[in-house]
Amino acid sequence: MTNRYMGFAAVYDRAGAVAFNQAAIEKVRATAANSGLAPGRCLDLACGTGNLAVALAREGWQVIGLDHSPAMLALARAKAEAAGVAVRWLEADMRGFTLEEPADLVTCFYDALNHLPARADLARTFRSVAAALRPGGLFLFDVSTEACFRNLWQDCLHLSETADHLFFAENTFDAKTGRGICRITGFTRRPDGLYERFEDTIEERCFTDEEIRAAARRSGLEVVGTEGWTPAVALEGVRNFRRLPATPEFNPDSRDQNLKTYWVLRRAGPPGSSGPACRRGSP
Ligand SMILES: C[S@@+](CC[C@H](N)C(=O)[O-])C[C@H]1O[C@@H](n2cnc3c(N)ncnc32)[C@H](O)[C@@H]1O
Repeated sequence: MTNRYMGFAAVYDRAGAVAFNQAAIEKVRATAANSGLAPGRCLDLACGTGNLAVALAREGWQVIGLDHSPAMLALARAKAEAAGVAVRWLEADMRGFTLEEPADLVTCFYDALNHLPARADLARTFRSVAAALRPGGLFLFDVSTEACFRNLWQDCLHLSETADHLFFAENTFDAKTGRGICRITGFTRRPDGLYERFEDTIEERCFTDEEIRAAARRSGLEVVGTEGWTPAVALEGVRNFRRLPATPEFNPDSRDQNLKTYWVLRRAGPPGSSGPACRRGSP
């Protein structure tokens, strides 16, 4: 089923997710330090295989990891157990969830928000996040930019091969609708040496800055800062991707070709509520 990662889960961590989350935790650490936000209650939305949730739990956060994929959550659970940290895992849709206790921090990384199919879904997700945060609490996330979809999705074929897996991702992107589709066909090596085939389809939507700002405004979330972001691991992807029929002309040093945008939002609070102090415009 689309966007459930039921097949791709098996190779997800070996296809860049661990390295990406190392970059994500640096972002979270820097923003928390800059905002005077000490470890408290955190929700990692669309937590996937739990890399960020487990890292935050190790740093003293009380973490809830939420995802709608049972396959991804099973790997997350095993990772937390192996690390000896307590994380609460919730199988739920990010477009409509509630928490019993307000969170100080909500995170949502690795273009998870791009998995939402439409503006209305982004708005529903932001409303759930706003309701889950305490006044002044922060919402940190990345989204993939149009430059990312044009350079890594539009008519691109990706091949990933290691000793224990092989997969192809055939990507398309329609700039008119803002929709990208990634069709994955792969093989994982079993202990008996035979290979097991899997297939998965991931659909993403490119959201403009204005669409994100509008969803934030309507949900009672204020934009504290936003910046272009191209983590090194994302450039690994660029090296592996091949545009059909030619190699993309991509200049990662150009500001308008950042693959991602990093956002810091804050739940607006009643006058006098004490939220963390963030410098406007610098996450
Ligand atoms: C690219 S992965 C990112 C996972 C994780 N945040 C990370 O950094 O590795 C996207 C995740 O979003 C989850 N997801 C997609 N749509 C969702 C939805 N509507 N509600 C909850 N999770 C969703 C998928 O199951 C998948 O685990």
